[in-house]
Amino acid sequence: MMAYTGTHRIVSRFLISSYTTRRSYTTENKAGVVVGVYNNNGEDVLTEAATSINTHSSGNLTRLMQYGGPLKAGKSRVLYGVSEVFPIVALVGLGKQENKSNPLEERDEAKEAIRTAIAAGCHSLGETNISKILVDSCGDGEAAAEGAHLAVFKYQDLKSKKKPIPTVQCFTEDNERWTRGATLAEGQNIARRLMETPANILTPTNFAQEAVNCLEGLGVEVLTRSYDWAKQRNMNAFLSVTRGSAEPPVFLELSYRGNDLSDEKPLAIVGKGVTFDTGGISLKPPANMDKMRADMGGAACTVGSIFIAAALKLPINIKGFIPLCENMPGSRATKPGDVVVASNGKSIQIDNTDAEGRLILADALHYASQHKPRAMINMATLTGAMAVALGSGAVGVFSNSSALWEVMHKAGTISGDRVWRMPLWKHYSSQVTDFGLADVHNIGKYSRDGGSCTAASFLKEFVTCDHWMHMDIAGVMENKDEVPYLGKGMSGRPTRTVAHFAELIASGKSEL
Ligand code: BES
Ligand code: ZN
Ligand code: ZN
Repeated sequence: MMAYTGTHRIVSRFLISSYTTRRSYTTENKAGVVVGVYNNNGEDVLTEAATSINTHSSGNLTRLMQYGGPLKAGKSRVLYGVSEVFPIVALVGLGKQENKSNPLEERDEAKEAIRTAIAAGCHSLGETNISKILVDSCGDGEAAAEGAHLAVFKYQDLKSKKKPIPTVQCFTEDNERWTRGATLAEGQNIARRLMETPANILTPTNFAQEAVNCLEGLGVEVLTRSYDWAKQRNMNAFLSVTRGSAEPPVFLELSYRGNDLSDEKPLAIVGKGVTFDTGGISLKPPANMDKMRADMGGAACTVGSIFIAAALKLPINIKGFIPLCENMPGSRATKPGDVVVASNGKSIQIDNTDAEGRLILADALHYASQHKPRAMINMATLTGAMAVALGSGAVGVFSNSSALWEVMHKAGTISGDRVWRMPLWKHYSSQVTDFGLADVHNIGKYSRDGGSCTAASFLKEFVTCDHWMHMDIAGVMENKDEVPYLGKGMSGRPTRTVAHFAELIASGKSEL
């Protein structure tokens, strides 16, 4: 797995003295610096770090900056030859210094401005040939580290010639928060990498190995359950999906005990782990089918968020449940019209084999419920309808608990990776239960209409926990350019939100 790159050292308040002792800039130590500038109604105001470089360079920074005019929020301008010690400086626009709050946006806009600006700076320095980027904390080392570490991520595991990725370090004195931000970003980068990996490489078995590699070093127990284990537990809904594939399914059970002294009930996180979704016999059209390699995004974000919880040593017990399989149209595949009985005893009519996520989750949610969690959340790239409803603006969440919703909503405001509450009403439940042949129907009466809501209602039939939330992450699975600090590719969203959620629950302030 990726090496942790968030190490840094304090040499002086702004590390300047360590550079001034060097006579000249050498190629072995090609460092660039990213520093921020606010724009208060047309007036440029340098951050502390930018001011220190400006002073050190006898005002060169502000002189060079003038040539380009005002710097817009989220934009970067690379200045060359600022001084001998800092020959390459990316100046980044942070927007207005004060009054960034906008209640309608439901997120911390100051943090978001820092993530965006720092990422822009790292991106533009990444186009030069420097090997190290020193980053201004801009008053919030956590947000700056997130922006930097998320921006320099690049999936190139399969390239024989890899482009060197610059290391990013904190330029200012904000080490504790910088390390936290680096850890949060690393968890999301783990999810991005897993989601991006082609499905012939990331099979259920190899996903399990990756989970072991990521988590066991942090003391997280990773149990790999087999087909026979699932069969013994009558997980026939889960196993109905894997029937058409030659790859063996795996059910992962992860345990992080951050609160070992008490017998505290765990927070359960369940993640959809379809390592490739062809649709099965209800085969998907070929255009963009390759994207279905990321249909294990829920599983990837589960691993990423438990990684963060363990790395930050959050005082909470967490259990992760990840059903992993392929959805393929092999000769033994489930056929439209087939009926299976899930582990909770409910019969399911499968009329569309492409609605497979809810089938594997049915058994996983029932199994997780049996562990009597204090709260249970699941993440799943469940419905294309979710992308139609909210696009990539927010994860759609469905919950039987307003208390749980409040905590997740708050977590989204901190991470900037937001959630939006969707309805979980009987209106939708009846559309999946009101059938003659079986107890539950896997697509519901009106298949397309309200598809995300009926899918959520289907899952509800397999949950006995009073505080449960389904997160449909299909709309946020991929980033084109909507979130500027993520770049193009699989997003790893909402890993950081879920990590903040776990931290808020661990703080004991909620009633959960
Ligand atoms: N994995 C897909 C949902 C999906 C679509 C995720 C696009 C990410 C991007 C899911 O298994 C699926 O195919 N759902 C169907 C459900 C339908 C058959 C009721 C869908 O959304 O079309
Ligand atoms: Zn599907
Ligand atoms: Zn799917």
